[in-house]
Amino acid sequence: MMHGQKEHDPQNGRRPILRRATPVAVLTGAGVSAESGVPTFRGQGGLWRSYRAEDLATPQAFRRDPELVWQWYGWRRGLVGACRPNAAHVALAEMEQALDDFVLVTQNVDGLHRLAGSRRVLELHGNIWRLRCTRECRPPWEDRRDPLPEIPPRCPACGALARPDVVWFGEALPGAVLAEAMDASRRCELMLVVGTSALVQPAASLPLLALDNGAHLVEINPQATPLSHLAGEVLREPAAQALPRWWAAHGLSA
Ligand code: OAD
Repeated sequence: MMHGQKEHDPQNGRRPILRRATPVAVLTGAGVSAESGVPTFRGQGGLWRSYRAEDLATPQAFRRDPELVWQWYGWRRGLVGACRPNAAHVALAEMEQALDDFVLVTQNVDGLHRLAGSRRVLELHGNIWRLRCTRECRPPWEDRRDPLPEIPPRCPACGALARPDVVWFGEALPGAVLAEAMDASRRCELMLVVGTSALVQPAASLPLLALDNGAHLVEINPQATPLSHLAGEVLREPAAQALPRWWAAHGLSA
């Protein structure tokens, strides 16, 4: 168990003690994959810099020009497909193994957490390697082919257009996944927030739920975010350096 709130207070200089049974939640964003070579959305060279999100990542854009939207996703699949998990992904997979109550929530659609060995990943914004029938005639399916043989791809069952199984602007998040993420955030005693600008809702509110529970918040991000002033510990470093070091330093106490 974590000690009481007082001992988490960064002002008193004492570090929280992490035990096997400590409920831990992690929220990751594009920054956790930055050192794998996946561009972030809003930073320098961010994906949204060269493309207008509203032209591509909305249901309206897909209705208007599914081929254009799929070309963009095809390009992103190619880019992500060439990337490998980095030391931050690996440290999170190790944490899942070592802790009894560990929940990893990600906004990323790149699938790198699973590739690093994380088994249970709550993907709030979907997964770029999954496709979905626009008529919803069957559950989403995985298709890792790159390039896809047909752009735009079609549902193999009914022939309707297929879309990426990701959340677009203006769309709701998958309800059950969000509910689990909220539950884990409310329960946790320690939350790591790694590589997210904390600007996109509802993901950005998960750390607030954790704070309501008195959780100790650790932010790992080279840049300040709206959450920074709420965090008990801030590591202004790239995740692939800071996270493995944090895990080694705060590893399980006996
Ligand atoms: P952003 O691109 O908004 O933010 C990336 C964050 O990662 C920034 O705060 C960077 O400072 C930080 N960062 C950059 N390099 C890093 C590194 N090496 N280590 C740690 N942090 C680093 O990405 P998200 O917050 O993930 O949604 O964006 C949230 C959502 O906005 C995305 O999931 C996507 C987008 O619209 C959908 O597609 C639905």
